[in-house]
Amino acid sequence: MPISSEFATNPGLFEAVVNLCKRRGFVFPSAEIYGGIRSTYDYGPLGALMLRNVREAWWRAMIQERDDVVPIDAAILTNPKVWEASGHLATFTDPLVDCRNCKERWRADQIEDACPNCGSKDLTEARPFNLMFKTYVGPVEAESSVAYLRPETAQGMFVNFLNVLTTMRRKPPFGIAQIGRAFRNEITPGNFVFRTREFELMELEFFVPPEDGPRWYEYWCQQRLAWYTRYGIASEKLRLRPHEEEELSHYSAGTTDVEFAFPWGWGELEGIANRTDFDLRAHQESSGTSLEYFDQATGESYLPHVIEPAAGATRAMMAFLLAAYDEDEIGGERRAVLRLHPRLAPYQVAVLPLSKKDTLATLSREVLHRLQRHFMCEFDETQSIGRRYRRQDEIGTPYCVTIDFESLEDQQVTVRDRDSTNQTRLPIEGVVEHLLGRFDS
Ligand code: GAP
Repeated sequence: MPISSEFATNPGLFEAVVNLCKRRGFVFPSAEIYGGIRSTYDYGPLGALMLRNVREAWWRAMIQERDDVVPIDAAILTNPKVWEASGHLATFTDPLVDCRNCKERWRADQIEDACPNCGSKDLTEARPFNLMFKTYVGPVEAESSVAYLRPETAQGMFVNFLNVLTTMRRKPPFGIAQIGRAFRNEITPGNFVFRTREFELMELEFFVPPEDGPRWYEYWCQQRLAWYTRYGIASEKLRLRPHEEEELSHYSAGTTDVEFAFPWGWGELEGIANRTDFDLRAHQESSGTSLEYFDQATGESYLPHVIEPAAGATRAMMAFLLAAYDEDEIGGERRAVLRLHPRLAPYQVAVLPLSKKDTLATLSREVLHRLQRHFMCEFDETQSIGRRYRRQDEIGTPYCVTIDFESLEDQQVTVRDRDSTNQTRLPIEGVVEHLLGRFDS
């Protein structure tokens, strides 16, 4: 599979980013002191900050900057009838084979005719394996109390379609958006946080008059591609790939993936699906509640069609990290730098007093508090200023603000830019405004 030349010439990229994530507190193996649990990760301080920024960047583009999308936050556990109607109970499956020799399980569509673990060709027939996690609601573990952890957030939006329509006085075209955890009992998770059993989804269900479905589908493909470039991924590392007929999910009349050039090849970041009226119709039939929209202008009722851009927040974070990782040389010294978009970086500003001496403490804290009202800041007064700059470069902090002894006299500070390493002397009064001006997207 062809991948961008940069990745082809940088085979150590994946390892470098995974190591950085562990070393600098982005991502830890879950419950590491107990030996972890396979392919499950905890987001450390910097990961929690960055993941929040990824969510916010999505929220800004999909909700805040639009007047036709509203958010909801639906429950993870819901009535199992939802999953019956949506088709997930019957068809949300992967084909599974067992190796009779070493007892490992594999996805039939991901292996050739031999077990990747022991090489045996003694494999069982493929059989469907449902990816939903099953649990029990209440104290009795009976069939009547079975519930499922949601494998997608989408259904929470379909079953609330009427509630939103009436309480928000909306009419198609309009969208409902949601960010939240989803759970899938993946048979072969892996590639760090690319495929995990618990992950975060950012989904929009955009309800449109049926005849407008194809137009909105095209529109959302372009919008979603543009979101990744807006937040710093070079366009040559992205592509749109329409699904072949046989790849389509059970609900989809057409799907296009936004793909990223991962170190191992092109991989899905997000799917934009034309779900037609599949879900609203299924829930209407199953619940007995009409989910049609009555169009007063035409006097007709119809079931809206749905265009769904569905993105993984955790997977997007990984792509942003891979795309941002760089190594260069500053003053003859090698540095690792994350060229993250300022809005995605865990910290936007590092406040660095040149010396730990008490004389600088009051002014430094004053500058810190001034900046903290607008930006996520790190305060660091240890080690040489050069090493502190390198540390901030490595975690992607776009700006360092340095307070030195002259600052006490002239009430000015030095602002250092991560990418160019240029330094600008600015009055403390104007620093917030100066930095805000650089966060315009
Ligand atoms: N409602 C549609 C839906 O959930 P999907 O293609 O199954 O669509 C959407 O998932 C996105 O969620 C994917 O493009 C991917 O970014 C992310 N995703 C899916 N499974 C994942 C997993 N096991 N681990 C991490 N991210 C995952």
